[in-house]
Amino acid sequence: MTDSPQKYVVRTFGCQMNEHDSERISGLLQSDGMVAVEDDTDADVVVLNTCCIRENADNKLYGTLGHLKTWKDAKDGRQIVVSGCLSQKDKDVVQKRAPWVDVVMGTHNVHRAAELVRESRVSGPITEIYDEAVNDDHILFPSALPVRRETTFNAWVTIQIGCDNTCAYCIVPAVRGKEISRPFADIVREVEELASTGVTEVTLLGQNVNSYGRDLALSARQAGDDVRISPRFAELLRSVGSVEGIRRVRYTSPHPKDMREDVLRAMAETPSVCEHLHYPLQAGSDRVLALMHRGYTAARYLERLAEARRLMPDLAVTTDIIVGFPGETEEDFVRTLEVAAEADFDSTYTFIFSPREGTEAASMTDHFVDPAVVADRFERLRTVVERTALLKHEARVGRTEEIVVEGPSRRLPDITTGRTRQNKLVHFRTAQQLRPGTYATVEIVRAAPHFLHGELREILAEATHKIRIPVASA
Ligand code: 5AD
Ligand code: SF4
Repeated sequence: MTDSPQKYVVRTFGCQMNEHDSERISGLLQSDGMVAVEDDTDADVVVLNTCCIRENADNKLYGTLGHLKTWKDAKDGRQIVVSGCLSQKDKDVVQKRAPWVDVVMGTHNVHRAAELVRESRVSGPITEIYDEAVNDDHILFPSALPVRRETTFNAWVTIQIGCDNTCAYCIVPAVRGKEISRPFADIVREVEELASTGVTEVTLLGQNVNSYGRDLALSARQAGDDVRISPRFAELLRSVGSVEGIRRVRYTSPHPKDMREDVLRAMAETPSVCEHLHYPLQAGSDRVLALMHRGYTAARYLERLAEARRLMPDLAVTTDIIVGFPGETEEDFVRTLEVAAEADFDSTYTFIFSPREGTEAASMTDHFVDPAVVADRFERLRTVVERTALLKHEARVGRTEEIVVEGPSRRLPDITTGRTRQNKLVHFRTAQQLRPGTYATVEIVRAAPHFLHGELREILAEATHKIRIPVASA
């Protein structure tokens, strides 16, 4: 051991769930006496928190590990950790392909990060992958574990892990396990604690938030309680949304098949819940939706969306769409274009289908769509969704909107970036630096497809959050 503290870097790939896990890993290393640094050159430990949802992640990981071998060989005592979904999926393969990796850990043993780093320092390379989640609320949803928050006015709060759905393209159920909801009171308590440190915005995280609580009710019923087996997400939104000090509540992701009116009503009637719905469409053709096992039709999707907009007239809607699912015909794809145009999305994440080993769709090889055709469809879809995105943004010009300051723009330091309740980025100039977490109003003066330009009007509330100091684990 050296005298100065060990330094670490965590690099995150993929979704918010992974970013949240990275915070936990950072917090654990930090409370084990390590210090975060920005750059690999200063680090003793590099953690790669991986994602496997789409292709290329594998190639990129092994490429990065190749570079990191040189980094590791350059100085004694350096360690490499691979965590997250790709290691959960590949298990022993990571250390076989890159034997210089010190720790390979999965999605169910994030809580072991610091111990594993320490152990491997003494005993050499370790691969530790649990097949399923440890059945202990404090380990599954470790609000009491140390967490190092990157930005401190907003926080992610996990309400559910895993997924019980069987979308034919998706690897998530295989790497994140079955759906487990976190106890209601624990979630509300965590949000209250966050609010007491000055956090004003929370994002509730789960793979299928609409079914939140169904499993809890089922186990209560099995234990003899007389409870109704129904999801409690609407109730959760109302409770979290009424915690004092919380100005904004967001969540991701709902599933259109389970979206019920009670959730839309809870959104509409809880002032802190933001007017933004991420509503993954995936495809516009009913035939493809059925092949994907999505459990809804395009008509049903659009109906629910209209209902949401009726209840929340200023709702921004974003979506995910996959192009080139096996068997997708030109006719199917045209339906996607039509439904996307009709849905009038504010922003769309478009993905090219990527076969994930072990999923149902990966075995539909006879029906894979020619990559050139997929590339062409992808561009056509982009044209449609960028047009609606720009129109949506242009419609906001002239309005005065509430933003929360995120900080100076990465590329243009004299520009400040803020986010509206509809989750839109706004760039504006200020004479003085505004602390991240400050609430203000800006007038929207110009629109671009991916962001807005604004002029600062009024400061509504200064940031009040304290920097969170990691505490030892409970
Ligand atoms: N291929 C392409 N896109 C995928 N997604 C999930 N799995 C795949 C896959 N195998 C997309 C879905 C999901 C988003 C997070 O990633 O659109 O909503
Ligand atoms: Fe994957 Fe479908 Fe579960 Fe979302 S709902 S994580 S797409 S299986």
